[in-house]
Amino acid sequence: MTIEESIDRIGSEASVDLSGAHTSSDLESIKIKYLGKKGAVGALMKELRTSSGDERARLGRLINDLKEELVSRIAALFREFEDAELSVRLESESLDVTLPGRRRVHGRPHILTQVLDEATDILSGMGFSVQYGPDVESEFYNFEALNFTKDHPARDMQDTFYISPEVLLRTHTSNTQVRTMEGSNPPIRIIAPGRCYRNEDVTARSHVVFHQIEGLYIDKGVNFSDLLGTLKGFFATFFGCEIRMRYRPSYFPFVEPGMEVDIHCLMCDGAGCGLCKHTGWLEVAGAGMVHPEVLKSGGIDPEEYSGYAWGFGIERLAQLRHSIFDIRLYFTNDMRFLRQF
Ligand code: PHE
Repeated sequence: MTIEESIDRIGSEASVDLSGAHTSSDLESIKIKYLGKKGAVGALMKELRTSSGDERARLGRLINDLKEELVSRIAALFREFEDAELSVRLESESLDVTLPGRRRVHGRPHILTQVLDEATDILSGMGFSVQYGPDVESEFYNFEALNFTKDHPARDMQDTFYISPEVLLRTHTSNTQVRTMEGSNPPIRIIAPGRCYRNEDVTARSHVVFHQIEGLYIDKGVNFSDLLGTLKGFFATFFGCEIRMRYRPSYFPFVEPGMEVDIHCLMCDGAGCGLCKHTGWLEVAGAGMVHPEVLKSGGIDPEEYSGYAWGFGIERLAQLRHSIFDIRLYFTNDMRFLRQF
């Protein structure tokens, strides 16, 4: 076969190969087969050495033409295949930018935590430091040390969860009073926030679990008007308005005198509504002057020192702030309720 025939043959073979190529990797092999170092075109060039003169120049041009033609056809097909392959890939990997994004749910403190933190901030600003007492408490700190003798009828008023005859779930944060007195000397000015437990029916107004903030101030010459001033100051800051208060004498074994504190109804401004049960007043705290027997239990001389104490219900404060009529909502974890705060 002459060189010229070889050039023709290789040209038509390459055409057949190229028309059978469908992917860029097919083209890659064709490129190697014809244009690679040991490829068919290179072999023709070598063969060229055997011819001479004008013939050589003519055949050289033919081979170069073939080479250029192959280079440009392969390059064109490469582009075509790459475009097609790219669009296939884009199709399969496509992002639907119109899909809604994944929503990140932002957490937030529970409404009771918010109110507790806020009340704690206000009272800290008034000079009270924070103490914590245990939820699982001895009968001594919850009752005995607070002047509830063994068969005191007031024990029945607080339906207690007993763990054993001496151990119980605290029924109020007043359990921190004598603990604090034992651990420090007057002046004592603390608040004790925490969870309390009573075996009551769960209704819109009562629950087996609830929260209180105890307040306790003991120093020389602490008197009843200090207590009233502190309560009034706290409620005015917490509710952000001037508050009318009234005090009803009440009995707690650990204070004397003892009282229940009402504020005017914030919903109806005292006119009477569902929230205040048409009385115009809302009960917000139990309070009083620390009983001398309690000071003695805590190792403090009642002749030298006096003090006051109070207990607020956190559920109650949150309820008044946000007009929540059913305290069960705090614990049912319904996000529709919780997200409002
Ligand atoms: N511990 C009382 C209660 O839970 C409230 C209280 C606290 C009353 C301090 C007087 C003084 O009802």
